[in-house]
Amino acid sequence: MEPQVKRMKTWHAVPMSEMARNTFNPIRSIVDGMKITPNPKKPMIALSIGDPTVFGNLPIPEEIDEAVIDKIRSHKYNGYNPSIGYEEARQAVADYTSTHDAPVTSKDVILTNGCSSALDLCITVLASRGQNILIPRPGFSIYKTLGESLGIEVKFYDLLPEKSWEVDLKHMESQMDENTAAVIVNSPSNPCGSVYSRRHIEDILEVLERNRIPMIADDIYEHFVFSENKYHSMASVSKTVPILSCSGLTKRFLVPGWRMGWIVVHDRSNALHEIRKGLNSLSQRILGPNSLVQSALKDILKNTPKSFYAETLEYIEDNAKLFYKLISEIPGLKPVKPQGAMYMMVGIDTKNFRNIKDDVDFTEKLVSEQSVFCLPAKCFQYPNFFRIVLTIPKEKVETACERIKEFCDLHYNSDSPSNISR
Ligand SMILES: Cc1ncc(COP(=O)(O)O)c(C=O)c1O
Repeated sequence: MEPQVKRMKTWHAVPMSEMARNTFNPIRSIVDGMKITPNPKKPMIALSIGDPTVFGNLPIPEEIDEAVIDKIRSHKYNGYNPSIGYEEARQAVADYTSTHDAPVTSKDVILTNGCSSALDLCITVLASRGQNILIPRPGFSIYKTLGESLGIEVKFYDLLPEKSWEVDLKHMESQMDENTAAVIVNSPSNPCGSVYSRRHIEDILEVLERNRIPMIADDIYEHFVFSENKYHSMASVSKTVPILSCSGLTKRFLVPGWRMGWIVVHDRSNALHEIRKGLNSLSQRILGPNSLVQSALKDILKNTPKSFYAETLEYIEDNAKLFYKLISEIPGLKPVKPQGAMYMMVGIDTKNFRNIKDDVDFTEKLVSEQSVFCLPAKCFQYPNFFRIVLTIPKEKVETACERIKEFCDLHYNSDSPSNISR
C-alpha cells in the first residue's frame, strides 16, 4: 500500500525534537569540554562529585536497607501504584514534613522520581512559554536545564558571597516582571553550602509577597545544617506566599540512586487549587515513581535512627572545618565558610595567578599537575570560584589541600593587589 503522506525516498538522519535540542546541562557541557588528564605520579582525588556514596565512607543504617528488603520479600509491591504515589507513603511524607507552623496532610504530597523530577513538575505546572522563572546565581544547574528545555525564560538573581551567599534582594526584585511565574530558592544550598536565617527567609518572602509570586523551595538539603546554624524551611516561615517544596531521600538518607523525591504543597492564601490539579495531571505522564522504595518510605522515615543523621552531619562538618582552615591559608584562594549541605565555594584571585585565565583553566591545570579535581563554578554561572564536595574520606582532605597549596605556591604572584577580599 502507498503511504498516505509523502515521505523521503531514503532514510535521512531523524531530527531531534525542539525540546531535546533545548536541553542543555551546563555541568556536562563544561566538564565534557575540559582537559582532565591527571598527573600519572599522583592518584586522583575528585572533589567534584556531588554523590555522597562514591567513596563508600558514609554508611547507611540497616534500618534503611531492611525497609526495602522487607517490601521486596512481601511481593506486594510489584504492581503499578497511583501516579502521585501510594496513600500510605504520602501520609508518611506528610508526617515527616509537618511542623506546627506548616502542617500538611497526604493530600498535599506528590511522590516523584527524585528531587529533580519534583522540580521538573513544579516548573512545568507553574510556568508556560513566554513566562520566566527566577533562579539563584550561583545555583544548581538543573534549574536552568529544566526551564530552558520547556521554552521558559530563565533569569538569575544574585547571591552575595560577602554575606554568606544571602540573596541580593534588590537584584531579585529588579528581575521580576509581570511574566515571572515562580522564584526558586535553595537553602541549604548547592553549590554554596549556605543556610538562610529565619530573618533572611522573611525578607525573601516579603519580596515575593509584594509581587504575588509563588516560590519553589528546593529543600533537598533540609535539616542538613552544621552545629552553629538552625534550619528553617521556607514553608514554616511563610504566612501568605504559596510554596511548592521539593525534597526527597537523596541527600539526608544518602541514597541518590533510589530516585525517591516528593513535592509538598503549602497552599498559603488558598491560591494553589489549579496547581494541585495540574500536578496530578503531570504526574500521570510518568505513572509514578518506583513502587518498592515508596512502599518502604514509612519505615525509612520513621525508623532511621537519629544518631545516623547526627553522625553523617558531624563527619561532613569536621571536613568542612578542616577544608576551610587549610584553604584559608593558601595564597590566592578565599573559601566562603559553609553552614550546611555538602559543599564549599572557593574564590580564586585569578588576576594574580600566572598563566591562569579563569576557573576552568585553574581547575584543568590543578588536575594535570596535582591530580585534584574541583568543579569550576562556571558550571553554576559563577566564574572565578570553584566548588569542592565535603563528603570525601577524611584522610584525603589534608592531602588534597597540600596539593592545592603546592599548586598555588607555584603559580600565584602575590605582588599585585588581589581581586578577592581576604
Ligand atoms: C540543590 C539540588 N537540588 C536537587 C538535586 C537533585 O536531587 P535528586 O538526585 O533527588 O534528583 C540536587 C542534587 O545534587 C541538588 O544539589
